[in-house]
Amino acid sequence: MRTLTKLSKAPETAPAKAPETTPAKAPDAAPDAAPDISADSAEARQQQAGRIKGDGPLARDTLGPAASGPHGRAHESAIKHVTGRAAYIDDLKAPADCLHVALALSPVAHGRLTRLDLDRVRALPGVIDAVGFHDVPGHTDIGPVFPGDPIFVGDEISYVGQVLFAIAAESHHAARRAVKAALDAGVVEIDEQPASLDAPAAAAGGEFVRPTHVQQRGDWEATLAGAPLVVEGEQFVGGQEHFYLEGQACLVFPTEDEGVVVHTSNQHPSETQKLVAEVLGIPFHAVTVEVRRMGGGFGGKETQASPWACIAALISRRTGRAARLRLSRGDDMHVTGKRHPFHNRFRLGVDEHGVIQGGEITVIGDCGYSPDLSDAIVDRAMFHSDNAYSLGAARVTGHRARTHTASNTAFRGFGGPQGMMVIEAAMDDIARRIGEDPLTVRKRNLYRKGRDVTPRDVTHYGQTVEQIGLLHELIERLETSSDYWARRQSVIDFNAQNPIIRKGLALTPVKFGISFTAKHLNQAGALLHVYTDGSVQINHGGTEMGQGLHTKICQVVARELALDLGAVRITATRTDKVPNTSPTAASSGADLNGMAARDACLTLKARLFDFAAEHFYQGQALDREGMRLEAGHLVAGIGESERRIPWGELVQAAYLGRVSLSEKGFYATPLIHYDRGTGQGRPFYYFAYGAAVAEVSVDTLSGEYQVDRVDILHDVGDSLNPAIDLGQVEGGFIQGMGWLTSEELKWNEAGRLISDGPATYKIPTYGDLPAIFNVELMEGHPNSMASIYRSKAVGEPPFMLGISVWSALRDALASLSDYREAPRLDTPATPERVLLAAEALRARHSDGPPAFGGQ
Ligand code: MTE
Ligand code: HPA
Ligand code: MOS
Repeated sequence: MRTLTKLSKAPETAPAKAPETTPAKAPDAAPDAAPDISADSAEARQQQAGRIKGDGPLARDTLGPAASGPHGRAHESAIKHVTGRAAYIDDLKAPADCLHVALALSPVAHGRLTRLDLDRVRALPGVIDAVGFHDVPGHTDIGPVFPGDPIFVGDEISYVGQVLFAIAAESHHAARRAVKAALDAGVVEIDEQPASLDAPAAAAGGEFVRPTHVQQRGDWEATLAGAPLVVEGEQFVGGQEHFYLEGQACLVFPTEDEGVVVHTSNQHPSETQKLVAEVLGIPFHAVTVEVRRMGGGFGGKETQASPWACIAALISRRTGRAARLRLSRGDDMHVTGKRHPFHNRFRLGVDEHGVIQGGEITVIGDCGYSPDLSDAIVDRAMFHSDNAYSLGAARVTGHRARTHTASNTAFRGFGGPQGMMVIEAAMDDIARRIGEDPLTVRKRNLYRKGRDVTPRDVTHYGQTVEQIGLLHELIERLETSSDYWARRQSVIDFNAQNPIIRKGLALTPVKFGISFTAKHLNQAGALLHVYTDGSVQINHGGTEMGQGLHTKICQVVARELALDLGAVRITATRTDKVPNTSPTAASSGADLNGMAARDACLTLKARLFDFAAEHFYQGQALDREGMRLEAGHLVAGIGESERRIPWGELVQAAYLGRVSLSEKGFYATPLIHYDRGTGQGRPFYYFAYGAAVAEVSVDTLSGEYQVDRVDILHDVGDSLNPAIDLGQVEGGFIQGMGWLTSEELKWNEAGRLISDGPATYKIPTYGDLPAIFNVELMEGHPNSMASIYRSKAVGEPPFMLGISVWSALRDALASLSDYREAPRLDTPATPERVLLAAEALRARHSDGPPAFGGQ
């Protein structure tokens, strides 16, 4: 029977029972009131029971109001999401004369654009306007951090899918048809050149988008030379397509002066504002960017949502009409960058107990054709090449290789996952070499107090690891709750009996650094309005992509002002409300914007208290010192002298008393710094921890496998919202598992992406849920740093729990060598790769069962 995912204190619910549709009372239940569909849903579930894999409830289904704790709340748009009333870009109404934009994309990976006849394009039937490089009035380079991303191809073509020009027409289909007609009519001529598609070769040839960076601590060479045992290896870690449900999309309106209002599905409105203004050659203040929500971003809309807004804005200004641009799934996959594939190498010296003494790690990120965010992404891979383990005396080198593919970009974990894969591979390899269980080796290498070769609680980039006790306790608790050792024995017993189907088990930890590594991005602003009926509007710099950020911010404001959640409403993120914002990224949305919102509340509260102390004077002044907000009241004094003034009355009085009911807030993360010159510092405000145990069964004759059971324990400090955090942990894990197992990006020899849709690119489906999926949040460990209510960021860290599945696959394969060897297993570990690894192992270890076909 399936085990239910639950909070540790959640009562178990029978699996057949209909899930609670709304865990807590929906804050905006009235305007969103939807027909009750729970009965139908329950019936449908019952009919499906047992017939589809993964039909059991997830954590959020089992959360009753009690189980979700005092802060468990439904997503602010939950009802709108499930009833289809949440507006995404394509749902926004546009004027009847709105133009639709389609893009002409390069068919070659590298070459020169020798001719582009846009006048002929403009003369084609149905074409209202066409724009290319030479029609841009302002900047033509829209590189977000470093130059290198032309808005249209000017001269050099750098990848298949690069934008040559754009066409505007009266409908989406007319625009797409016109693009095809233009290309068929031969309006472009290209001088094709050989493409560079091999990142290690590019790195060997010094072809980089940014300079190499090194982090180093201690005498790694001497340590390596003197180590009793040296373990070395190489791996390829594949990339990943974001596959957000809502593709890249925007809608631009011209304003009555020279500007535009841009609606975009976008994690970084302020950067889009800047780039649109620069492309149009107008001041930033003439551009307003609005984001209500995204249908997923996952990093793919941190920088790569801007080009479409720039192109649509150009069309809109040239024609004076609204312009819509949305990419088809195929175009989206060709045009936009993905998670960076990495080529990693390690050489580590270990002692007799498998404890790393030191060594070197080299990571090569395949950046695609331009820098984009690759500098910071390869940095983060380097920052996480230790994961939760002390490397001792180590040197970590990170290269940024240039290839002729789309510019790879942010994706959940931001290089961290690719970096962690090095050391997790090493852990399994060390275990096989010394003949110990991989978990034992992992535990021996965890960061700990004390020193030998180097201080064992300091990273290779010089940051002291805090909350080490939490890391150790978390792993021990999971070890017990998942019954690791008993299951290890059953796996060994099972494998001894079964020559073909092999089981594997692995526990892998996560330590993920929280903060933008670009220090200046660690700031946020908020804008708070209280209206005279007492209702509250909050706006902040963060964007909503499904992660529940807006819900958490409303909770912060409701808590500070002691109001019901329903009294607080979030408004769309807009650059004219909170300016100069950072992207919603690095998992820091709630940390940064929550603090900024709280700051606004605290200032407004102080002002209201000062006013109340005088205004409500009744022969006796109100006690200003102990004044507080409690359950919709201002409360002053205690006992006999207690006075309670309802919030609405306070607000009315303040308004009439000419006291401002609006406030802005600001926050900047303290303490963090990193010196790229020395490769040392404290780049992270704190670390978030977690661990997962995965069990898999592998058919070693076909390479097919399934994930039988997963147990997760994850640290979110004192959770801002356990219901939402559990959803993030589940979703992150599954997305990480997909990255390492089924999601395979394939390019042909000419550099064209051939896995360009759901038929060829396989993200996990509902049926891929582990049959048993136990997810718990670690309780009783508030953040040791002063974060918002001592919570921790949750967006990215759980992604890396997916590594447990990959390690379990290697464990299952290792059984074919009687656990003497962990086979190299590049990712994604598709059935093909698993089969090849199994065959290679069997060939090397002849005492195993016969190789495929060799009976
Ligand atoms: N969850 C959902 N549902 N959709 C998303 O696009 N993006 C992830 C994570 N969780 C994402 C998500 C990424 S890449 C990041 S950085 C964080 O959410 C950003 O939001 P936060 O900082 O508010 O956690
Ligand atoms: N994480 C995510 N996005 C970023 C970062 C980071 O560290 N730095 C710049 N953009
Ligand atoms: Mo997330 S990759 O930092 O947008």
